[in-house]
Amino acid sequence: MNKNLPPASAQLASQMTKDRVEILLAKMTLAEKIGQMAQAHGSEDGVSDDQRRALELGQLGSVLNIVSIDVICELQRIALEDSRLGIPLLIGRDVIHGYKTIFPIPLGQAASWNPELIEQGARVAALEAATVGVNWTFAPMIDITRDPRWGRIAESLGEDPYLCGELGAAMVRGFQGKDLSAIGSIAACAKHFAGYGAAEGGVDYNTAIIAENELRNVYLPPFKAALDSGVASFMTAFNDLNGVPASGNEFLLKQILREEWCYQGMVVSDWESIVQLTEHGFTANDKEAAFEAANAGIDMEMVSNTYSQHLESLIIEGRISLAQVDEMVKNILRLKFRLGLFENPYPQPDKLPALVNHDHRQAAKKLALESVVLLKNSHQSLPLRLSALSSIALIGPLADDAYEQLGTWIFDGDADDSETVLQAINAFAGDSLTVNVDRALETTRSNTFIDIDRTMAAAQSSDAIVLCLGEESILSGEAHSRADISLPGAQEQLIHLLAKTAKPMILIVMAGRPLTLEPIIDHVDAILYAWHPGTMAGTALTDLLFGEVSPSGKLPITFPRMVGQVPIYYGKKNTGKPPSAESVVHMNDIAPRAAQTSLGMSAFHLDAGFTPLFPFGFGLSYTSFTYENLHLSSSTMNIDGVITVTVDVINCGEREGQEVVQLYTRDLAANVTRPVKELKQFQKVHLSAGERQQVKFLLKASALAFYDRKMNRIIEPGVFHLWTGGSSTADLNASFEIIGDKAVTVAP
Ligand code: NOJ
Repeated sequence: MNKNLPPASAQLASQMTKDRVEILLAKMTLAEKIGQMAQAHGSEDGVSDDQRRALELGQLGSVLNIVSIDVICELQRIALEDSRLGIPLLIGRDVIHGYKTIFPIPLGQAASWNPELIEQGARVAALEAATVGVNWTFAPMIDITRDPRWGRIAESLGEDPYLCGELGAAMVRGFQGKDLSAIGSIAACAKHFAGYGAAEGGVDYNTAIIAENELRNVYLPPFKAALDSGVASFMTAFNDLNGVPASGNEFLLKQILREEWCYQGMVVSDWESIVQLTEHGFTANDKEAAFEAANAGIDMEMVSNTYSQHLESLIIEGRISLAQVDEMVKNILRLKFRLGLFENPYPQPDKLPALVNHDHRQAAKKLALESVVLLKNSHQSLPLRLSALSSIALIGPLADDAYEQLGTWIFDGDADDSETVLQAINAFAGDSLTVNVDRALETTRSNTFIDIDRTMAAAQSSDAIVLCLGEESILSGEAHSRADISLPGAQEQLIHLLAKTAKPMILIVMAGRPLTLEPIIDHVDAILYAWHPGTMAGTALTDLLFGEVSPSGKLPITFPRMVGQVPIYYGKKNTGKPPSAESVVHMNDIAPRAAQTSLGMSAFHLDAGFTPLFPFGFGLSYTSFTYENLHLSSSTMNIDGVITVTVDVINCGEREGQEVVQLYTRDLAANVTRPVKELKQFQKVHLSAGERQQVKFLLKASALAFYDRKMNRIIEPGVFHLWTGGSSTADLNASFEIIGDKAVTVAP
């Protein structure tokens, strides 16, 4: 149902769609029905003979990866005019963080903790993609991941179920708009259902083993949030989940998605993930793969054609019923009606804003500004003061690379639209600043310097060094995982050499994942972690460098000290032997031939301890914030109750800034062990210098529900701790209790 229409109109609209779907379905042959369930890979060169034939026969439901408006118009024309029933096509595309105007990678967007800006970003992406006729994007990717080795972490919204759910829902609202049938709205797709982000070893496509309770409490909530925000489609995942590949997983697709969550939208497979069921060792051949996928409930097959080849015989054999196929086809047709494709099948670029226009660039800049996280700022090295500097050395392979700053998944972005850091600093400072530029390394992976003497000379002759290092786009994204997540190539060596100049050194990191920064952290004065910021990287970073704007990003993912700590995340379980500063010992401090003992031992690594380098939720500003007067309206609440939590946030610095006020809870004793902290709410507030603001949260008991041992979602009486502050290590705390005789089961 369209959530943005008043209930009566929404009901009427959905009844009308239902009637139209039924009427159309009744006219369809089996071949036409099975044809609707196929999605083909398109070509920019034009319509292939096979596709033309399939379209004329009404036997193709969708194409993906075409952005030529002429080809799209021709495909739609054939579908509408030359086929018997004239059913328009879904035109799919990976519009992941912008179409032409590129926004920060999703992990960077998540660091903004700003749902409004993220919604606007997705809106811009939809408006631009719609100009050529794309009507369906394969985003948002809301796979929880706690492994920075995994290349697709760049496309994720981080480690936390609540943050990921809130931001994923914002993306859905942005792509789909208030009315999915309006010009400029495109269907979103919640992917990849489910468990893809838990790939073993951070290796893409790898097996995921996730206990059901963990699956329900951690990995599935963002998908439920997307569903609640009205997402039009779901995509299945490539991975094997607990022995059953997600693209043939009845438990996920039937029991959870359709039965427990009552999802009525459409489900598409991932690219050839149905034929891959055989590769997994789950099915013996394509026919069995088609059976398992259809039986589990995948409505549309992406690229491979097991459905078109085998569904008919599976129906004749009685293994798949016609009723099942009808339901799947209805899901597809319903989406086409919801999108208004029967009324407006062709792109209407004249009714849409120009690509990469000023407003779109400003929206991308805003999000880039808020996505950057200030990780370190010793002696207030930042912001740089133009009046106090006559020259800077701008060093590194990412200082002036219009393409690499865009990040992964930018099929349609154009490097020519980018502003680099070098261009932006020159535009900002003009003649008042000498910029000594030196690339130092050909790429971030280079192991040899271009001319280290020249690099050192540039540094020596400047008042300060701004280093632009990190990872090029190609080092993250699909199938681009890394086992070593340190700064690649000779970049660490470069930092160590430059540190010898004793000049103030500012490090800008552009990367698709958290990198292990411990080897260099003490050698630089400040770190701006910029992810891949997109088209407007240069001007956003220049504004931050020179203090036009204060950084306000907060980490959506924990930064490990060393890769061996992975998985490391804030919402861990306590264990029976939780570590503390007192219980930790470093291996170098253990005496030779020390006797074995387990006394006083706890859960940590002998070489890395137990803390991350930077915790989830962390991020500095050029001003500073303190928290006072944490107050709960009551220290008890009923099982259906709510309490009001207030806290004063004070900007105690000398300049304005934004702070993300975070609220965490812990359920102290529960039917299943609960994380040591869970993010429950957040608010981003803007405070001028010296300003104090009371921030108010309404905390409902229902927000404390979780899945228990029997996989019931319950609210349980008991004592909770609560924290508020500017990161997951916030220590301003209080306690409250949910009162009741027994736990109550609540709907998902
Ligand atoms: C495979 C990826 O896993 C998926 O996320 C993407 O949408 C499809 N390819 C289509 O390109």
